[in-house]
Amino acid sequence: MNEPRPASEMPSGLREALEHKVDKQPLVDWIFTRVADKYDLGNDIMSLGWHTRWKRRMVEYAAIQPGDRVLDIACGTGDTSFMVGGIATEGEVVGTDINADMMRLAEVKRPPGMDHVRFVLADAGSLPFEDASFDKVTCTYAGRGFPDWVAVLREVHRVLVPGGTFWNLDFARPPSAFVDWGYRTWLTGSGAVLGTVLHGHPKTYIYIPESMRAYKGQRWLRDRMVEVGFEAGLEETFLGLMAYNSGTKPE
Ligand SMILES: C[S@@+](CC[C@H](N)C(=O)[O-])C[C@H]1O[C@@H](n2cnc3c(N)ncnc32)[C@H](O)[C@@H]1O
Repeated sequence: MNEPRPASEMPSGLREALEHKVDKQPLVDWIFTRVADKYDLGNDIMSLGWHTRWKRRMVEYAAIQPGDRVLDIACGTGDTSFMVGGIATEGEVVGTDINADMMRLAEVKRPPGMDHVRFVLADAGSLPFEDASFDKVTCTYAGRGFPDWVAVLREVHRVLVPGGTFWNLDFARPPSAFVDWGYRTWLTGSGAVLGTVLHGHPKTYIYIPESMRAYKGQRWLRDRMVEVGFEAGLEETFLGLMAYNSGTKPE
């Protein structure tokens, strides 16, 4: 496990990392190790509980079947993996994350009847699975942290069976600059209060609005999916603040 550093040692250069001017992964790993223990609580408070609803909707869209083999990349504390596991009850569900501290909590909160869900430590940009080994791949609220989204898309495409689909849910870049600014301001303010109360540092959650600002957005991601070989779809919701990107690997 990574030892959390004290808040006073929070790495500088957040913007440089998010803009890919310096290596981003160490900063992302540090942030999630720092917030891991209170990640679920922080998520519930900052999204006012809505993140679960948005994840459930994505799982519905993915039309998972009981016998499906599903990979949930960057699974964190396993929310989406377990939602998927509740449907793919006769299949196989694998959650992967690069951060052992986040995945440790997924093991801790494993609900009863979820023995078919397993967790594997892995970088989404270099997946330790055979070609064509999954029917579906899911990813929630993680893409903004990937150092190389295109490398992840290539890996997802490789591990999917022909006809298989990838579903990605994340914050989006809304068409209205005012909505964009307003939501990031809410996240900055609520994140500062929460960061202070839960972690003793007001900038603990600054990663969220800053990474939203740096994110090239759901339409950019859709275009990258097409380049990698997916038939891509996109649905925006919540005033364009959330987006479901989907990609089908052609037969
Ligand atoms: C905001 S959390 C989302 C967790 C979970 N999917 C959810 O919706 O609650 C982002 C996760 O992405 C993981 N992550 C970041 N970079 C990664 C990478 N290159 N490969 C795999 N996981 C990564 C982080 O460790 C973290 O657990």
